[in-house]
Amino acid sequence: MSSFPTIRMRRTRQNERLRGLVRETHLNVEQLIYPLFIAEDLAEPRPINAMPGIMQRPLEYLGREMERIASLGIPAVLLFGIPAEKDEGGSQAYAEQGIIQQAIRRIKAETPDVLVITDVCLCEYTSHGHCGVIHNGTVQNDESLKLLADMALSHVEAGADLVAPSDMMDGRVAAIRRTLDEHNFSAIPIMAYSAKYASGFYGPFREAAGSAPQFGDRRSYQMDPANVREALREVDLDIAEGADIVMVKPALAYLDVIRQVRDHCDLPLAAYNVSGEYSMIKAAAQNGWIDEQRITMEVLTGIRRAGADMIISYFAPDVAAWLRE
Ligand code: PBG
Repeated sequence: MSSFPTIRMRRTRQNERLRGLVRETHLNVEQLIYPLFIAEDLAEPRPINAMPGIMQRPLEYLGREMERIASLGIPAVLLFGIPAEKDEGGSQAYAEQGIIQQAIRRIKAETPDVLVITDVCLCEYTSHGHCGVIHNGTVQNDESLKLLADMALSHVEAGADLVAPSDMMDGRVAAIRRTLDEHNFSAIPIMAYSAKYASGFYGPFREAAGSAPQFGDRRSYQMDPANVREALREVDLDIAEGADIVMVKPALAYLDVIRQVRDHCDLPLAAYNVSGEYSMIKAAAQNGWIDEQRITMEVLTGIRRAGADMIISYFAPDVAAWLRE
């Protein structure tokens, strides 16, 4: 094998045109999904303290934001709802007039070209803040499935294009698939949060979505950050249950998981660049310690290089604008 001076790696790094020719990974706007928080009983948009630039929005303020997203070419939004009333069973999660169901109808009427993906999980709607129903202090798996399926169905009936279960109950993809098919929604894809870890990186989100558990934590249903073989089992099960897209979440501390899932299966793969990953960059940038644009592009490119097809990110509008520069 020949080496220096015959081989000079710097030859193809000399200018941007050459670098472009040999570039292996691309970040494109059509692979970005932007999360939105919609709150009931709110008069004005409310900034999230721990997530600079991100707001909870009342329904009335959704239109303008959706037009901005559409004009930036962002193909999809992921919706989270903050209901006015919470109860033990999370009944607003599957109410026909729930905040998310209203938001979906409005978005589909006003900006129909943007795909609407909905987060299917009870934690924003339950008084105890857990992702399923509680009996004797524990989250009940099988009992929660019916509610999650009802929730997904109510989203699709309102016009959602995809549903994304994030609760981590066993069997929820199958339950949702069966319910959707029974109601003639066999064409609606399921994006499954397959390998969702019990992560400290969700901290800022819980302020944004008002979904912190009132007792205990989520470690009896979300995954242990130490495990990767278990992630592949979760992915296999979700595929067997009918998932169309699988997801790894969070992204940055789990790039190896993204890579292994990519090598393990042929399904489209999503990665969630979560709230804590966003807020850390924002905080350091606000202190002048890092270059926000450069670091954000590097992080999202890294997530793509690890193997993600699509990225859910609070940076989506910024990245869409930077890609146009
Ligand atoms: C709901 C849900 C959470 C996130 C997405 N869906 C929070 C959690 O599981 O505690 C986190 C998203 C983020 O941190 O950006 N279960």
